[in-house]
Amino acid sequence: MQPSNFKTLPQTLQRFNFPTLQHSQMKILMVCLGNICRSPLAEGIMQHLAKESGLDWYVDSAGTGNWHIGQGPDHRSTRTALNHGVDISQQVCRLFKVSDFDEFDMIFVMDKSNLSDILAKARNSGDAKKVKLLLGDKIVPDPYYDDSQFEPVFNLIEAGCREIIKQMANES
Ligand code: 4NP
Repeated sequence: MQPSNFKTLPQTLQRFNFPTLQHSQMKILMVCLGNICRSPLAEGIMQHLAKESGLDWYVDSAGTGNWHIGQGPDHRSTRTALNHGVDISQQVCRLFKVSDFDEFDMIFVMDKSNLSDILAKARNSGDAKKVKLLLGDKIVPDPYYDDSQFEPVFNLIEAGCREIIKQMANES
């Protein structure tokens, strides 16, 4: 069964304004707070699904907080991803930087706090237009303090990534 908040995704994604659909290589940045739990999963899942769909997409991830820079993903994310056939073990945590607005076509954030943190760094409306919640108008909750949430979070992120790919395919 799909997570309950997945049901509204198709509608909310209709409102997404994908600015660069004609690019053969889309560049997508996934952002969360620590860049060790959710956005590494989002990076790995989107890379995996894009490749599976024959899409030449570049996907990276970053955090808004600096506590874990240079570290690998949280072991609970790495293990959960591996259980689903996705290897995120080689990723390295980094901080979001303003030049990411130039580098990436779309910036997907996990929750409303990430959204306001990233929008606060936008230099203009073009930067701001690139920033969207991964799940449209729902959030991907932070699993850091609850081991049991890594599997549901993986499923939420996977559903969101699948919808984005579907939306992009319908638009192009
Ligand atoms: P993430 O989870 O934003 O999904 O990577 C967190 C990881 C670390 C911390 C908070 C959230 N932290 O406070 O260190």
